[in-house]
Amino acid sequence: MTATEGPAVYAALGELAAECAREAGEELHAHFGRQIRTVRKGDNSVVTDLDAITERGIVRKVRSVYPDHTFIGEELTPEQMVGRYTWVVDPIDGTRNFAAAVPMWAVSVGVLHDGTPVAGAIHLPVTGELFTAVAGEGAWLDGERLSVATKTELSRAVAATDLLPGQLRSGGTGAAALSVVRSFLRTRMLGSVCCALAYVAAGRMDLYYRPHVHLWDVAAGVLLVREAGGAVLTLDGEEWRADAGSIVAANPALAALLAEEIGRWRDGGGA
Ligand code: IPD
Ligand code: CA
Ligand code: CA
Repeated sequence: MTATEGPAVYAALGELAAECAREAGEELHAHFGRQIRTVRKGDNSVVTDLDAITERGIVRKVRSVYPDHTFIGEELTPEQMVGRYTWVVDPIDGTRNFAAAVPMWAVSVGVLHDGTPVAGAIHLPVTGELFTAVAGEGAWLDGERLSVATKTELSRAVAATDLLPGQLRSGGTGAAALSVVRSFLRTRMLGSVCCALAYVAAGRMDLYYRPHVHLWDVAAGVLLVREAGGAVLTLDGEEWRADAGSIVAANPALAALLAEEIGRWRDGGGA
């Protein structure tokens, strides 16, 4: 009988995820820097024709190998997990950057087994970097094993986030996410959640946090950070789950400290 789970299955999923992200990224890169038409979506994010074309291509390729798997993609496929294995695709993360010829954008392909990320790939086509991870096998960039940064003080940390006006007006956690910025050494907003999470896994950024994320923004990045020795929590300090709307990613000590700090600001005790 063929195995349906375990290291060999996850490794095969990881290989296909990496192949999809690499190929899609290379195709998109051919358009980078050219005039690209964007359309504004209801949530104020933007989309190009290439987003849907890319997502369709990835889903078609995976379906030809795994016809019984479920797909969740930002542009075309409904957000629900019905099968044991779910492929989560963000065809272009950082579309605004992509369309404006800013290099910080990525293709992200993650695979969940019963809701837990087990394989993932994030491709940054402009730098040519392909970040990959398989559960239990580590996180890798071009043959080099990745490790999260080791800083354990927020005041020494270079943080990455994306704070959107609509999320900050909500008070509570949104306001706390903004307030906590003054605890860091420096804060960056890269405009691509996937790039930021790959950078946390590689120790280039000390942490990433965000009060609101979609599953396709983080499915691959969560595994990269975990496999690089990091912790991924919600803003409430709980372990991240596929239905979590928020994220904190860093080494375990720093992630716990940040969740605690956000809690203090939320409860009015951070000033
Ligand atoms: C966006 C990027 C951006 C974040 C937005 C996301 P998209 O993804 O990750 O950094 O601020 O909230 O929607 O729309 O370019 O795939
Ligand atoms: Ca996208
Ligand atoms: Ca995205």
